[in-house]
Amino acid sequence: MAQVYVFDAYGTLFDVAAAARVAAEEPGRDALKAVWPQLAEHWRLKQLQYTWLRVITNDYTPFWEITKDGLDWAMEKVGLDDLELRERLLALYWELAAYKEVPMMLAHLKAAGKTCAILSNGSKDMLEGAVDSARIGEFLDAVLSVEDIGTFKPSSAVYDMVEARLGCAKDEVLFVSSNGWDAAGAAGYGFETAWVNRAGDPVDRLPHQPHHILTDLSTIPELA
Ligand code: LAC
Repeated sequence: MAQVYVFDAYGTLFDVAAAARVAAEEPGRDALKAVWPQLAEHWRLKQLQYTWLRVITNDYTPFWEITKDGLDWAMEKVGLDDLELRERLLALYWELAAYKEVPMMLAHLKAAGKTCAILSNGSKDMLEGAVDSARIGEFLDAVLSVEDIGTFKPSSAVYDMVEARLGCAKDEVLFVSSNGWDAAGAAGYGFETAWVNRAGDPVDRLPHQPHHILTDLSTIPELA
């Protein structure tokens, strides 16, 4: 049974669609109301693509810059030209809600004496903001950001941070991500992995597969 539970942040603990959804509910946001799901999807996909492209071209830039670039592309794609809205969406990204089962799941793990950590592409200050606003800091032993090493997942250098920083062995770790490619990368690296497939997506066609496929995080404490 795993002793160390390592979670991806965005999309896994924090609901990345929440920024666009919350802004769309605000008064005077009719244009966004019509397109927010597409905006959220384009934003997320561009953000991820830019992480991979910047690693390939040896052009690391912090995740916050990449998040802004992804949003600018997505807003243009859905025809939104509104600087105030851009600022609002970016502000909301710093206070994304955690999925509702997250605090209880982490509390269970801590009560069972497990080590819990985040391993994320996110910039340190973004992660701090999200952890604080979701009030889950008390359950986390560490928040590891790729900012310290200047690359992105699924580079093995990122997964190396877990053993180096938490002082554990690879076979003590359960790595949990909602990103199929991240779960696959971590499985290839040698971690036991759980893929949280909330959307019912097909399994990624990559050389490694997650060991567990879940619909949300509530059953994590029960995994053997
Ligand atoms: C992260 C992104 C990949 O938090 O969701 O690392």
